[in-house]
Amino acid sequence: MRVLSGIQPTGRFHWGNYFGAIRQYIDLQHGNEAYYFIANLHALTTVRDRDVLWRNTVDAAIDLLALGLDPSRATLFVQSDVPEVSELCWLLMTGAPLGLLERCHAYKEKKARGLTADAGLFTYPVLMAADILAYDADVVPVGMDQVQHIEVCRDLAGSFNHEFGEVFTLPKAKVLEESAKVPGTDGEKMSKSYDNTIDIFEDGKSMRKKIMRIVTDSRPMEDPKDPDTDPLYQLYTLFAAGSEREAMAAKYRAGGFGYGEVKKTLADAAEGFFAEFRDRRNQLAAHPEKVCEILGDGAQRARRKAGEVLQRAQQACGLKAPA
Ligand code: ADP
Ligand code: TRP
Repeated sequence: MRVLSGIQPTGRFHWGNYFGAIRQYIDLQHGNEAYYFIANLHALTTVRDRDVLWRNTVDAAIDLLALGLDPSRATLFVQSDVPEVSELCWLLMTGAPLGLLERCHAYKEKKARGLTADAGLFTYPVLMAADILAYDADVVPVGMDQVQHIEVCRDLAGSFNHEFGEVFTLPKAKVLEESAKVPGTDGEKMSKSYDNTIDIFEDGKSMRKKIMRIVTDSRPMEDPKDPDTDPLYQLYTLFAAGSEREAMAAKYRAGGFGYGEVKKTLADAAEGFFAEFRDRRNQLAAHPEKVCEILGDGAQRARRKAGEVLQRAQQACGLKAPA
């Protein structure tokens, strides 16, 4: 199976990114041909400071490697290092219905807030489709919010194939059910845009502070509570083993405990969980030249595959002599 995913370098990665997406990248690099990239062209639609964009890109690569992405198993690269994708994007753009793009959530939400969108944001899903199709990806591991974009990719690929023959592989989204939508400190979906994130590599003190701010209900301590509707419990389950989850759920149902206690347990569990990654991150950050070398190798491998697919598409639609 060929696996591909991308993640934008728009800031430091948070728990939602890890449990919704990155953890799947790491698992799927075993036994599959895997491609993972840092989506800096997509990030350019929002990050307009060159130092910040570059710093975020290097940080994203270091984070992914520290979290277990293994360059001997998976191809890790920066999106803009594969210009074939931008070319493929144009081919797809020529057949992309405006109505389809108007329904996509990033654009729709911006419009609904009365803001003006640019062509980059509007055509964002077409570039994402090119990202996926350029590597003949079968499976795309993502969080739930990206499923719509993968449907758009299937639509665009399907119409191209219909017009020009079987050029593209239709991909499927892969969403982890238990962490498809990790809640943030306010109980809504954790997202950089909502300022409710807890970062993976946040320092211990600031992480604890944020955990202490997680919203909880205000019922008396003695009352029994339903764990399944509580964001704090949902966050705890991400870090806890099955038996620990059960024990915590039983505590909720019995009542007579304080949320402060649960928050402390969550903070200890999260700190222990990420400790090993944190050490690895420190080692990698001391050698940014090695990280750049890994990205350079990755780009070469990625270009080879994307070049093949682009040529196939160019031949199919008459931009190049037939095969
Ligand atoms: P953000 O919403 O913070 O800007 P991104 O949109 O960059 O995050 O998401 C990067 C990846 O992480 C995507 O695959 C996305 O689906 C996943 N992801 C983001 N937030 C969550 C969340 N709260 N729960 C599960 N997955 C998430
Ligand atoms: N749009 C994705 C996000 O915001 C990032 C992304 C870009 C992506 N291209 C992709 C994800 C291709 C999967 C496949 O998270």
